[in-house]
Amino acid sequence: YLTTLLFMLLAYLFGALNGAILLCRLKGWPDPRTGGSKNPGTTNILRLHHAQAASCVLIFDLLKGTLPVYIAYFLGYSPVALGLIGIAACLGHIFPPYFQFKGGKAVATGLGTLLPLGMDMTGLLIVTWLFTVAVSGYASLAAIVTAIAAPFYVFQIKPEYTTPVIMLSVLIILRHGSNIRRLLAGKEKKIVNWKQ
Ligand code: G3P
Repeated sequence: YLTTLLFMLLAYLFGALNGAILLCRLKGWPDPRTGGSKNPGTTNILRLHHAQAASCVLIFDLLKGTLPVYIAYFLGYSPVALGLIGIAACLGHIFPPYFQFKGGKAVATGLGTLLPLGMDMTGLLIVTWLFTVAVSGYASLAAIVTAIAAPFYVFQIKPEYTTPVIMLSVLIILRHGSNIRRLLAGKEKKIVNWKQ
C-alpha cells in the first residue's frame, strides 16, 4: 500500500509538469492560461500558436501519463494500483502544485495513461476522437464523446480496468464544464472548419 501511495505521489508530481505552460515559458510566449480558451493544453496551443508547438505539447503530456503506468506495470502492480497511479498523473496535470493548481483537462495525459492497455484500446479512442472532430469540428466535444465511450471499450477489452477508466472519464468530463456551456450556447470555437 505504501509503495502504491508513494508511486501515486510521484505520478502526481510528474503529471503536474504541464507541457503547454513549460513550452510557453521556454519560448517566452504568454502563459496559455491567459489566451484563447485559457486552457493549458494541446488544443489551445494549436489555437494560439501552431501545429508544431501543439505536437510537442501533445507528446509531452501523453508521455507523462504513459511512463508512470508503464513503469508500475513492469514492476508488477495490480490493475487497481495501476488505475490509481494513472489517475494520480491526471490529477497532477489538472491541479499542478507548481502552477497555482490551475492545470489542464487531462485529455492527452488521460489517453497517455490508457496507452499501456494496448493497440485495440488506443486505436478505438483515437478513431473516436478523430471521427468526432471530423464530424463536428469541436476538440472539446471529441474529448467528451471519447470519455463517454472509453468505459464501454475497456469493458470489452480489459474489464478489470473498467472502474479506473470510469473515474478518469468522469474527471475529464467535469473539467469540460466551460466547454459544455459554450457548446450549448453555440459559442465554442471549432478547430476544424471545413467551410474556411
Ligand atoms: O483537450 C482539451 C480540449 O478538449 C478542449 O480544449 O482549449 O478548447 O478548452 P479547449
